[in-house]
Amino acid sequence: MEERVEILRIKSLFKNFKLIALDSKTIVGCEDVNLLVRQGEFLAICGPSGSGKSTIIKCIYRTYLADAGSILYRTGDQRLVDLCRVPEQEILALRKSEIAYVSQFLRVIPRVPALDLVSEGLLRKGWELTRARREAAEYLKMMNIERSHWEAYPSFFSGGEQQRINLARAMITRPRLLLLDEPTASLDADTRQTVVKALKELKGSGTTVVGIFHDLESMRKLADRVFVMNSGQGNTRKVAEII
Ligand SMILES: Nc1ncnc2c1ncn2[C@@H]1O[C@H](COP(=O)(O)OP(=O)(O)OP(=O)(O)O)[C@@H](O)[C@H]1O
Ligand SMILES: [Mg+2]
Repeated sequence: MEERVEILRIKSLFKNFKLIALDSKTIVGCEDVNLLVRQGEFLAICGPSGSGKSTIIKCIYRTYLADAGSILYRTGDQRLVDLCRVPEQEILALRKSEIAYVSQFLRVIPRVPALDLVSEGLLRKGWELTRARREAAEYLKMMNIERSHWEAYPSFFSGGEQQRINLARAMITRPRLLLLDEPTASLDADTRQTVVKALKELKGSGTTVVGIFHDLESMRKLADRVFVMNSGQGNTRKVAEII
C-alpha cells in the first residue's frame, strides 16, 4: 500500500501545570510525547484518567501552549506549520477552516436553537442561510435528534443529545483534522452506534481524526492505530494489541 502523507507529527511534547494555590506545585500533563498521524487516518488515544490524553489534544488545538516540543501540521495548502509556535491569528484561521475540536465537557450556548448551532460553521464558511439550515437538518437527522427538538434550545437537552449536537457542529464543516475528546462517553449503546457510523462516514470522506476513547468497543470499530497513554507518556500500538 502507498505510504500516506503525514498530516501531524508531534515531537517531544511537554506540558506541565503550576498550581499557584498549591505552593506552585508542578503537575505533569504530558512528557516527551512523540506521535505521528497520516492523512485520512483515525488515531485513537486511550489510557487511564489523568494520564494526559486531553492535554495532548488541547496542545494540538492550542487551548494549551506547550512548554517544549513541536506539533508539525501540514495545512490544506501544503504548508508545514508548528502549532506550538504559529501566531494566534493563524491558529484562529486554521480553526475556522480546517481544524475542529469537540470537548470532553459539554458546552452549549444558551438560547440558540439546535438548527442554528449546527449550521453556524457553514455560515462562517459563507454558505447561504437556507442551504446551511437544510444541511444542518441532515446532520441532526443523522445524529438521531428528534425533529421536534430542532428549533429548541440544547441547554435543555439531555447530556447525550448535547454531545451529539456538539459533534454535528464540528462534523458538518468536514474539517481536515477533527479532534475528539471522548465522543461516545455519555451515550447509550444504540446512540453510540449512530455516532460510530457517522464518524466512519466522515473518515471515509477524507477527514483525519485524533480521538480519545474510554469505550474500547467504539475505538475498535474506528481506530487504525492507538496511542496508549500512561502517567503523561505514551506509545503507538496496533488496535489488535490492546483489545
Ligand atoms: N488546566 C489544568 N490545570 C492544572 N492541571 C491540569 C490542567 N489540565 C490538566 N491538568 C492535569 O494534568 C494531568 C493530565 O490531565 P488530562 O486532562 O490530560 O487527563 P486525561 O487523560 O484526559 O484524563 P480523563 O480521562 O480523566 O479525561 C492531570 O493530572 C490533570 O489534573
Ligand atoms: Mg480527558
